[in-house]
Amino acid sequence: MKVFVTGGSGLVGSTVIDLLLSRGDEVLAIDNFATGRRDNIKPQPRLQLIEESIVHERVVDGLIGDFRPDVVVHTAASYKNPDDWQEDALTNCVGSANIARSCKNHKVARLIYFQTALCYGTKPLEQPITLTHPLNPVNSSYAISKTAGEHYIQLSGVDWVTFRLANIVGPRNVSGPLPIFFDRLAQGKRCFVTEARRDFVFVRDLARTVVMAANGTGTGTYHFSSGRDVAIRELYDAVVQAMQLNHYPEPEIRPLGPDDAPTILLDPSRTFRDFGEVEFTPLDEIVAETVAYYRQHGVQGGYTHLRTEQKP
Ligand SMILES: NC(=O)c1ccc[n+]([C@@H]2O[C@H](COP(=O)([O-])OP(=O)(O)OC[C@H]3O[C@@H](n4cnc5c(N)ncnc54)[C@H](O)[C@@H]3O)[C@@H](O)[C@H]2O)c1
Repeated sequence: MKVFVTGGSGLVGSTVIDLLLSRGDEVLAIDNFATGRRDNIKPQPRLQLIEESIVHERVVDGLIGDFRPDVVVHTAASYKNPDDWQEDALTNCVGSANIARSCKNHKVARLIYFQTALCYGTKPLEQPITLTHPLNPVNSSYAISKTAGEHYIQLSGVDWVTFRLANIVGPRNVSGPLPIFFDRLAQGKRCFVTEARRDFVFVRDLARTVVMAANGTGTGTYHFSSGRDVAIRELYDAVVQAMQLNHYPEPEIRPLGPDDAPTILLDPSRTFRDFGEVEFTPLDEIVAETVAYYRQHGVQGGYTHLRTEQKP
């Protein structure tokens, strides 16, 4: 299979690429390294990585037109500066429109997209959130632009799959609390935790399902989530345990920020129906592997689309 992967140096993109290459697929990837690490994927005979932005329509159309992929896995997204509305709008709206249009032009068989649970807003009407919950991407440039992007994917007329995601973590994770906890604890610095709860899911568990979708399983919108949440404090404790710290600063407990949802639980039943039961890796195993990765490769990022979180 020939697969075009946007955001190929990111957490999800590079992990999907690893799996595709391991089965013998041919991959063309694009990344501008806004948040992706250069060392996440290395060029090799069946993998080509182009340093470019999906915002450039001619580049995108030229690459897809020449490569003629069977499937496009569109993971590229902008989120690292919550005040940079222009970059979010360019990458997430214009870039996604470019991808959708090119897939249509060149008759790509499948287009796979990744959406934030913030598309439902920070005060969802139900828990777990079902797929019929109204879209309400308020309060966040990231959520607004990702939701516009999702609409362009649907507008393309290409057979599409959207995975609306829980918190995806694992080695190469540059956003959210995990890299920040590791980085601060490694320096003996105090962290803060909010009372929020989240569903942390291993990136390789997601990648297996994405490859099934690339093969033709499923169509339309899915929640990729275990359906179970843990307190952020539990994630902190798992990092402490994986780092084998005997002495560490007790974290400060802070109230939830204004755009911080107390919990985000996504109802995964349609995913399990169409893709089968997903085996979710336990949190302590995910964190142990991620901490080992940070020890070997260092931490980059600690990016967040929220304004309230601590920076490394
Ligand atoms: N990780 C999560 O918890 C999570 C949750 C919800 C949704 N998502 C979505 O999943 C997808 C993958 O996220 P991730 O966690 O792998 O993030 P990531 O930051 O690791 O990867 C995104 C990649 O896109 C690249 N990129 C950004 N702008 C680009 C541009 N204009 N042109 C080309 N490449 C560009 C970045 O450099 C990076 O390599 C994104 O679409 C994101 O919105 C992720």
